[in-house]
Amino acid sequence: MNDDFEELWDGLAPLGRNRATGGYRRYSWGPADTEARAWFTSAARARGLGVETDRNGNLWAWWGEPGPDAVVTGSHLDSVPDGGAYDGPLGVVGGLAAIDELRRRGLRPRRPVAVAVFVEEEGARFGVPCLGSRLLTGAIAPERACALTDADGVTWSRAMEGAGLDPERMGADHELIGRIGAFVELHIEQGRSLACTGDPVGAASAVWPHGRWRLDFAGQADHAGTTRLVDRRDPMLPFAAAVQEARRAAEEHDALATVGKVRVSPNGTNAVPSRVRAWLDARAADEAALRAVVDRVDTAARGSAADHGVAVTAYLESTSPLVEFDHRLRDRIAERAGGGSGAVPLLTTGAGHDAGVLANTVPTAMLFVRNPTGVSHAPGESATAADCRAGITALADVLADLADA
Ligand code: GLV
Ligand code: MN
Ligand code: MN
Ligand code: MN
Repeated sequence: MNDDFEELWDGLAPLGRNRATGGYRRYSWGPADTEARAWFTSAARARGLGVETDRNGNLWAWWGEPGPDAVVTGSHLDSVPDGGAYDGPLGVVGGLAAIDELRRRGLRPRRPVAVAVFVEEEGARFGVPCLGSRLLTGAIAPERACALTDADGVTWSRAMEGAGLDPERMGADHELIGRIGAFVELHIEQGRSLACTGDPVGAASAVWPHGRWRLDFAGQADHAGTTRLVDRRDPMLPFAAAVQEARRAAEEHDALATVGKVRVSPNGTNAVPSRVRAWLDARAADEAALRAVVDRVDTAARGSAADHGVAVTAYLESTSPLVEFDHRLRDRIAERAGGGSGAVPLLTTGAGHDAGVLANTVPTAMLFVRNPTGVSHAPGESATAADCRAGITALADVLADLADA
């Protein structure tokens, strides 16, 4: 098992790594993502797995004939800007390494087993997270996906075409979904719960509802040294009020709110900006708290915009409802992942995953691997090789149980 994990990891880890920051920049259909997808295809083929690209650009590696009732694992290879090494890749490498392990155990699964790689999970390039799994399950209309653009104005459909795929065929794939009997995603934990309990592996119980909103503030560009304060229509001021309110509202509602991406035009030190475009990421334990936070940010932005002669427009870019993973599958995998020494801990997470999207359509569960720093979406994300192996052993136990049943 050792060698499979390390060999796989060593092949993937250099791809898309930024030397200056130590973080990953793997954006869907870009050069590093393309290299990572090619790496997956060749690693899967080297194992005798049959590799397919589905209509939406997700990759599937099949052990056994693709067919009904398949047990599917996998995750994603794309990253946030300067993301960590494990968010996504651990579940992909883990899926291949788990198959190696099961073969070594001599397992001949009765049900087909597959490893999937979902495209644009982070939404770092086109804005909507879990785009590949949303398209697959019909959770987003293909027309809407086609029109999404990246920072350079390249559309999703153009990028797909560039990768040799036909955007006309994009959309819900009921035949492929119909093959999935169960989906189990292995993932790095994106917090410190397991580090605190001292467990190398846990299972997910639920994903918080969350979403992304875009706020466009439009004011008037002018000279920083000559325009009197009273004459200004500065969009930076309502933007700042919105950020402050996001923090206050999140504190009051036990929620999370983040403004991590901003574009300022024309972006000059000595000019009042004409426009500020900002993205709000909000997450909460329940839909009511999430709504309350977003409403408060919206109200603060509008109030301050009116005070400063600025126009503000808010857009909902994506939402993900509360997900409770299939209870039977969750308990079964928690038990199995414990390797006979009792069930592993159950964790609720505020992070989104393709598993959360698939959970609306097929029985779905997740396993988490301990992250000693608790850091994620940043280069400091961490896991020991021993814990990665523990996660892969747990995944192999779970796949064996499900595929043989
Ligand atoms: C994706 O990782 C997200 O939760 O933002
Ligand atoms: Mn992520
Ligand atoms: Mn992830
Ligand atoms: Mn995610």
